[in-house]
Amino acid sequence: MNHSPEKPFLSTLKGNVQSTPPVWLMRQAGRYLSEYREVRAKAANFIDFCFSPDLAAEVTLQPIRRFGFDAAIMFADILLVPIALGRKVWFVAGEGPRLEPFDPVNYRDLDLNRMEEVLSPIGETLRRVKPELPDETALIGFAGSPWTVATYMIEGGGSKDRWNTRVAAWSTPHEFDGMLDRIADVTAQYLIMQAAAGAETLKLFDSWAEGLPEPLFERVIIRPTKRIIDQVREAGVTVPIIGFPRGAGTLYPRYARETGITAIALDTGVQPEWMREVLPEGMPVQGHLDPAVLMAGGDTLNREVDRLIAAWSGRPYIFNLGHGITPHVPVAHVEQLLARIRQGE
Ligand code: CP3
Repeated sequence: MNHSPEKPFLSTLKGNVQSTPPVWLMRQAGRYLSEYREVRAKAANFIDFCFSPDLAAEVTLQPIRRFGFDAAIMFADILLVPIALGRKVWFVAGEGPRLEPFDPVNYRDLDLNRMEEVLSPIGETLRRVKPELPDETALIGFAGSPWTVATYMIEGGGSKDRWNTRVAAWSTPHEFDGMLDRIADVTAQYLIMQAAAGAETLKLFDSWAEGLPEPLFERVIIRPTKRIIDQVREAGVTVPIIGFPRGAGTLYPRYARETGITAIALDTGVQPEWMREVLPEGMPVQGHLDPAVLMAGGDTLNREVDRLIAAWSGRPYIFNLGHGITPHVPVAHVEQLLARIRQGE
């Protein structure tokens, strides 16, 4: 038994190596859980769901009750920030998010003054979850990073190659950076609010960081991420911040060194041996099991869990997926994953 006074997840983020890595799963509150689908059916639509603190708090807690993960992540979505900026966002069942496409030349129209009014229900979700958590479970708040949020705003939803966003970034750089700065400033306010409401760690999702040439990566990923973190720190918030520049590849080390993050979340494609050499010494890492392995289950799942734990031995390491859990994963596979990670306890 571990009687350490500190939550293992938070201790790992301070740089301490645990004998058993703490574990949580990206998108752990979601459709693979029948109890999630039951609560989800009570809300008229996904956005209303996110803005209903009692429902959102309940689904945040569901995976903790069922699996005893080491961290809970507040239930919300990265696409609530565009709403705070004055944009319309809706979800089409079975398809995904939709937004009115936004042209960055109009970046001055993005509203910087409505964060609290629009996003205060998310603070309320955190305040309701916090007292319900077991003593050893940490609470994570999050937001999307400006580039990833901008891709949804400009494309009007998800897109395969983010073409309009990439062209705008190169052709109207002043306006494009103005848009990213506005997203960053509202995101910083939002994260500061989350910390005040009880979030013990913050995570920045940059899900579409892949494939950018270095000068663009520096401008649209590193710079706005640093802008957020500088503002959050200037406000006196000291909680750890995990960055997830999915697909950053060889640019992961620059991201890790230059943004001010505390810890780095890795995607499925990274090679641990190389990462160990190029990441800042002692920086905690999180990741990066292939979600398809969790779907596959069986011996493959055990083998991949063992491989990752061995690959990160001696490093402060938080076990997680390399991207979100998928809706059809059997609950038994998640149980198997946890049993394998915790077998030595
Ligand atoms: O459990 C948790 O992780 C907390 C909640 C959470 C959600 N979305 C709930 C959600 C978090 C942290 C997110 C982050 C998010 N949202 C990201 C970054 C992480 C990643 O996956 O790359 C992105 C890109 C989004 C945007 C988004 N939200 C998309 C593209 C979609 C549709 C696709 C899909 O998975 O359905 C969503 C909807 C969404 N967000 C769902 C959930 C549980 C499913 C919708 C539903 O239940 O009706």
